[in-house]
Amino acid sequence: MCGIVGYIGANDSKGILLHGLEKLEYRGYDSAGIAVLNDNGVHLTKVKGRIVTLKESMDNSNSVEATLGIGHTRWATHGEPSTLNAHPHQSTSGKFTIVHNGVIENYQDIKRNYLEAVDFVSETDTEVIVQLIEKLYDEFQNTIKAFQEAMKLLKGSYAIGMIDVDDPNTLYVSKNKSPLLIGLGDGFNVIASDAMATLKETDQYLEIFDKEIVLVHRNHVEIQKLNGKVVDRQPYTAEIDASDIEKGTYPHYMLKEIDEQPIVIRNIIKEYQDENNEVKLDDSIRNAMQEADRVYIIAAGTSYHAGLIGKEFMEKMARIPVEVHVASEFSYNMPLLSEKPLFVFISQSGETADSRAVLVKIKEMGHPALTITNVPGSTLSREADYTLQLHAGPEIAVASTKAYTAQIAVLTILAADIAKAKGLELEFDPIKELAIVSSAMEVLTDQKEEIEQLAGIYLDTTRNAFFIGRGLDYNVSLEAALKLKEISYIQAEGFAGGELKHGTIALIEEGTPVIALATQENVNYSIRGNVQEVVARGANALIISMRGLEQDTDAFVLPKVHELLTPLISVIPLQLLAYYAALHRDCDVDKPRNLAKSVTVE
Ligand code: G6P
Repeated sequence: MCGIVGYIGANDSKGILLHGLEKLEYRGYDSAGIAVLNDNGVHLTKVKGRIVTLKESMDNSNSVEATLGIGHTRWATHGEPSTLNAHPHQSTSGKFTIVHNGVIENYQDIKRNYLEAVDFVSETDTEVIVQLIEKLYDEFQNTIKAFQEAMKLLKGSYAIGMIDVDDPNTLYVSKNKSPLLIGLGDGFNVIASDAMATLKETDQYLEIFDKEIVLVHRNHVEIQKLNGKVVDRQPYTAEIDASDIEKGTYPHYMLKEIDEQPIVIRNIIKEYQDENNEVKLDDSIRNAMQEADRVYIIAAGTSYHAGLIGKEFMEKMARIPVEVHVASEFSYNMPLLSEKPLFVFISQSGETADSRAVLVKIKEMGHPALTITNVPGSTLSREADYTLQLHAGPEIAVASTKAYTAQIAVLTILAADIAKAKGLELEFDPIKELAIVSSAMEVLTDQKEEIEQLAGIYLDTTRNAFFIGRGLDYNVSLEAALKLKEISYIQAEGFAGGELKHGTIALIEEGTPVIALATQENVNYSIRGNVQEVVARGANALIISMRGLEQDTDAFVLPKVHELLTPLISVIPLQLLAYYAALHRDCDVDKPRNLAKSVTVE
């Protein structure tokens, strides 16, 4: 993970780098640094902590003007978060300075084989890269050649930006697996892990492919293969609305993104309906789905939880057998596959390394893949055969909210389309029911005060919490627990209502909060029975039910939507509960500790 930004142009680079890093903080935020080059050499500022600390440190130091610079915000992999381990890193002589995102798998081998004489100052794999470049430079006396040869030796993932103190006219760039883009300007160029970082500067971007080297100058950019062969590539226009990546009047991105969910569902309806108000998908996707004898959904975190719901839809609506797998497990422990599998990758960012590792493997095996993502042009989207977009707009808060509901809505469309193509009778009109969902979401996002009160009663002083449900409600419970623990640090678990008594009920004490979902008619009585079991042992139970199934003691009643689509609305009060629990504990809601939004390391 980590975020990289770089600038080469006519103006001072520091403001652009700092602004870019702020926009990339979602990729990691435990330490940060900037290196700029001017006539007096390279000036390095590094801090442990956030970009705001880096800014302060730069304001306090006698900051210099420089028209070439690189910056980095880190999510530690090799070495603790510290000023020493923060990027940029420099070679011993100070000739080369680099920022790196990714993991160099063979960094120990490189150290042993090439760099035994070097005194390393940090614990990072990144320092190995920059020392290797210096070592190769000593041999070839040519920076491009040294850079190329170093890239040939690296194994693993990397996006790299490098400055050579003796060459103020070039920013050296390369990538493999980790994302990096070149932004093109008038008299300047930028590099960034994500176009969001440099959207203020330009909307024209050049994609870089794996194992390419790019020489970024002020007025032109040269892309080369590792063998030096020059590649011609046309830029594309980044279609991100700059206002979408600002918080506006909201105190946190997470709250803004929770509130955006009704509109996201409407966008999805608009994108995926035809002139007769029926669901429409690309023929190629429909055919691929129909040809498959089994679908394998691969995802991580919240996207995995959306995949669990997707399985229910595809099996119940489209009658296709589906398995859902956690990406990091699937890569190393592949189950016996069916004869004609289709892989569906669900990923908000489209960059998750665990999911990509599976994609690479199954492509080698010759299987087809569909990616469902919020980021068109992301790695998982580019490398799969088909893509379905979420149309949720940029999601900035680390805790995913609107991407989860968008994934579920797109999976509804996918299942409905396949059902239609197979001539299966659907018991509901998906477009109409999604429109009802969107209105129900609006009702719920207007009930913040009520939900904040519940958070106060149930979660303010607790050290742990349980979410229970059956069927679809169980899947939503898993997501609710993840949301609560990731942002409020309350230990939380999602459980199948019937399973709690097989061991975990031992944790229920006087006052332990148990939040139960009761939106499914066929299990309405049994989940309420499970609630009684925990109440009898002292639990403080809160039942969230749906209109039509409610009882007088239920703390919160959701508006009625089609029973299959309840996850789209039951998750909203649960997202808000997590939000207010975190807020009441003074947690950093948008940037919880130890996490990053886009996890590009395996
Ligand atoms: C990280 C984020 C989670 C996210 C997961 C998968 O762990 O913190 O919020 O659900 O990655 O991300 P993806 O972009 O693949 O959906």
